[in-house]
Amino acid sequence: MDIKNICCIGAGYVGGPTMAIIAKYCPDIQINVVDINPDRISQWNASELKDLPIYEPGLKEIVEKCRGKNLHFSTEMKKNISAADLIFISVNTPTKTKGIGSGQAIDLKYVEASSREISKYSKGHTIVVEKSTLPVKTAQTIKAILDAAQKDKSNLENKKTFSVLSNPEFLAEGTAIKDLENPDRVLIGGDDDDAINDLVNIYSKWIEKDKVLRTDLWSSELSKLISNAFLAQRISSINTISALCEATGAKIKDVSLAVGMDRRIGRYFLNSGPGFGGSCFKKDISNLVYISNHYGLFDVAEYWQKVLDINTWQQKRFVELIVNNMFGTISSKKIAVLGFSFKANTNDTRESPAINICKKLIEEGAFLKIYDPKVKKSQIMKDLSSIEKDIDSKKWGYSNSIYSTFENADAALFLTEWGEFASLNWERISNIMRQPAWVFDTRSIVDINQVRGNGISIWQVGYGN
Ligand code: UDX
Ligand code: UDX
Repeated sequence: MDIKNICCIGAGYVGGPTMAIIAKYCPDIQINVVDINPDRISQWNASELKDLPIYEPGLKEIVEKCRGKNLHFSTEMKKNISAADLIFISVNTPTKTKGIGSGQAIDLKYVEASSREISKYSKGHTIVVEKSTLPVKTAQTIKAILDAAQKDKSNLENKKTFSVLSNPEFLAEGTAIKDLENPDRVLIGGDDDDAINDLVNIYSKWIEKDKVLRTDLWSSELSKLISNAFLAQRISSINTISALCEATGAKIKDVSLAVGMDRRIGRYFLNSGPGFGGSCFKKDISNLVYISNHYGLFDVAEYWQKVLDINTWQQKRFVELIVNNMFGTISSKKIAVLGFSFKANTNDTRESPAINICKKLIEEGAFLKIYDPKVKKSQIMKDLSSIEKDIDSKKWGYSNSIYSTFENADAALFLTEWGEFASLNWERISNIMRQPAWVFDTRSIVDINQVRGNGISIWQVGYGN
């Protein structure tokens, strides 16, 4: 089939950038990104490109070029689903908060709802591609819903048929455009060779065909989950070693470098920090724990649960050492918080370590002044309120400019590795902080000698004295 029209359900961090790249490289294909959230759609359609709902380096240039030509954003499900030859499901897949599997299993209600919309509105033959990270065997659910539509009496005239593929997305936020343009691999799971070839033809417009890996549906779904689990496991591993370095006087950066230079280990994902955040890692590992328990593999479940436990432990340990270093109390002290997003180069705060750490500091009685170059005040308010309802301006304030954040602060806490934090003027900062001042650097981003040289005490993750 010659794919001429694509619909993507879900205009989020995955759907938006992925469709922008396909639009860029496939000018002959019309792409409609649909979402149930009208606010999000109007942000994608904003005339000022700075108001796009997602910040990703390189994204706004592509949207500017393609929007209105072959890339469209709307809330019209019916029209766009029926016109599509191929539909990506890119909706969010949160962890269940209630009922069986609460806190671990993935809630598939949005995937199911999308499948029902597809079964209702599609016409002719449609390739349905699951892009969302999904528990193993979800494609079966999608297939079952679509099969039911095929058997429906009303289908006799319409002759709806479907092929279901799994095509997980491996992009990381902050480097989404780079990752989409030059992925390590494109993974496609399914048993319909024609449908797989159609999808490969799209990717082959900019990606070498030998990067495409074909598997069955289940292996594809599981591979995505396991890739995320392995990445998260490396972070927990290096974070345990950061504590050992601090206790013994070694330097984590040197250890990471030396270990990572072994090609069998590799140098990526060995930065210790405040623990992993983001929408995927915690959710996916929780799901892996759930699946393992479900199949009676209790030791396997316990092993992966430890990766999550270490992540929480690292954050708790940081809060304790901040309090201990500040004479055992931070009550009524002012702490400048630098960075709130879960990593640099994104405005996303989902599962950001900053949320938990800030919550604990507020509980200890500190006043926080929070600065992040991309996260808006309203988002921080939302995140902090989700853990404490009566959070108010007596407990934290938002800072619009980096240097004013440090005014009269007793301590500065670096939580995100934004590039601008690496080259601060510490002489200026030292003059405006309240002495004796402390810096707590959970990302090894600031220049330790500059800080010390200006009379400020510093603790840096994984850095033993
Ligand atoms: C993605 C993946 O899809 C998810 O599985 C992965 O684990 C995390 O990344 P992401 O794009 O980051 O999700 O999620 P989000 O930014 O929340 O976007 C999802 C969008 O789908 C939202 O805009 C939401 O409004 C929309 N949606 C949700 C629908 O359009 N229809 C629905 O039924 C549900
Ligand atoms: C991740 C996966 O990398 C990506 O392949 C998948 O599609 C979605 O989930 P993302 O969550 O966007 O991407 O960011 P990632 O770069 O993986 O970082 C996740 C978290 O780990 C961040 O909080 C980051 O700060 C942290 N991290 C990462 C470290 O603490 N140390 C590292 O060395 C790397």
